[in-house]
Amino acid sequence: MKKSKGSSRSLVVSSRSAESGPRVAVAIMAAGKGTRLKSQLPKVLHEVGGKPLLEHVIRAAARIVPAKDVYAIIGHEADRVRAAMGHTGVNYVLQAEQRGTGHALMVAREALTGYDHVIVLSGDAPMITPETIGRLRNFHLEEEAAMTLLSADLENPTGYGRVLRKGPRSAEVKAVVEEKAASPTQKKIREINSGFYVFSVKELYENIGELSTANAHHEYYLTDMAEVLRKARGRVVGWKTAEASEVLGGNTRAELADIDEKMRLAKCRQLMAEGVTVFYPATCVIDADVEIAADTVIEPYVQLLGKTRIGTASRIRSYCVIRDCEIGDGVMVRTGCVMEQARIAQGAVVGPYSHLRPGSEIGEGAHVGNFVETKKIKLGKGSKANHLTYLGDAEIGAGVNIGAGTITCNYDGVGKYKTVIEDGAFIGSDTTLVAPVRLGKGSYVGAASCITEDVPEDALAVGRARQVVKEGWARQKRAKK
Ligand code: UD1
Ligand code: CA
Repeated sequence: MKKSKGSSRSLVVSSRSAESGPRVAVAIMAAGKGTRLKSQLPKVLHEVGGKPLLEHVIRAAARIVPAKDVYAIIGHEADRVRAAMGHTGVNYVLQAEQRGTGHALMVAREALTGYDHVIVLSGDAPMITPETIGRLRNFHLEEEAAMTLLSADLENPTGYGRVLRKGPRSAEVKAVVEEKAASPTQKKIREINSGFYVFSVKELYENIGELSTANAHHEYYLTDMAEVLRKARGRVVGWKTAEASEVLGGNTRAELADIDEKMRLAKCRQLMAEGVTVFYPATCVIDADVEIAADTVIEPYVQLLGKTRIGTASRIRSYCVIRDCEIGDGVMVRTGCVMEQARIAQGAVVGPYSHLRPGSEIGEGAHVGNFVETKKIKLGKGSKANHLTYLGDAEIGAGVNIGAGTITCNYDGVGKYKTVIEDGAFIGSDTTLVAPVRLGKGSYVGAASCITEDVPEDALAVGRARQVVKEGWARQKRAKK
């Protein structure tokens, strides 16, 4: 299976890039409740593109500085956020009471004292790329600014803070005015404040005490630092990105849906650029970490989730939901399959309507068919279980034929037991295999058998009541009526 490239390219520059280079930290504001989402779940844990908002931002940040220099400022449901982000290895700063974006940075003062500059990101704006963060940082360093903000021109700037420049072509910013405080003329400004900044740590903390809560929300606005720093003769500049969609924030469920759609489409585009066919991409949900090799075809209405990997020349037909699976080359997954943590080897055929649960390993060229459920099994090379079957806790060899309606009875209400079916065995339809049980190589089981004892190699086992025929019985019964 070919690994898709590109995702691991690193932009990390050490926090002190050269002996004399500046020490740079990233602070991510992620303490807010997200009132507008009307949710029990903290805002930054809401998912887009298959991952929490904050995780996207952390990932981008960790490509710019090492994770040890990333500080997530958390507050609302802090423990929950910390638990969800534990694997990222970033630091946390607790903002117990959320008194605004300015206050978030006040709280982070101690954590940031050892740095020269801090890149400030919003935990609810997940489309930001490392490339843009890197450019913003470079602009800030070149301009020797006290504060640099990232701006963008939006078609519809409603809801965002507007950037007031010193002059039409000036890099310098006079102030940021929030939507609620903006005059009708200011509301017409389409250049918005993205909520991403770089500050000189020294200048930020020498002046942050000047922030006030005299505004609509009675909060400390970080945006007010533009005016504060200018008054203190600091240089405040704005760098405008042409990639306006990167700054979109998810404050409402509708905005989250919009971001999710954009991310999904971008993922499909990336796969298509790498040689994957995706029909009707607007209907496909493919998570960011999914890898697919060239010449594989994804039909409409397919979900590929988690760390799923698919080889070349495979085909996933419509209405499949596939999570954390490894699918080899030339595999056909027919309509309506649900699969999780399964591995499917080259040339296998699955579906329609198969349910592959965790630990299912489908061998090369094997077939799993209609209404077959598998869990924790190995199905050997070329083996077939084509219809209406449950296979759990089983080791099945190569060239085995499992008849329609076969069931492994793997559970007695207390423990789970294993079924072993050796190479070339033939299991007749409607057989129940009461585990633990072993069916020897080349053995044969008559249809409708209940198998409770091991079957030796090349033997026939029939485990069913003998058929009784009563001549005329039905006629007599009808006559009695
Ligand atoms: C903010 C900006 C606005 C900008 C917009 C871009 C301010 C005052 N306004 O508005 O100019 O256009 O972002 O998306 O900054 N947070 C904390 N602690 C707090 C409050 C907020 O960590 O006390 C976090 C939130 O969780 C969120 C981020 O800061 O991740 C931004 O806060 P939010 O309330 O969403 O600000 P906006 O109203 O979007
Ligand atoms: Ca926001």
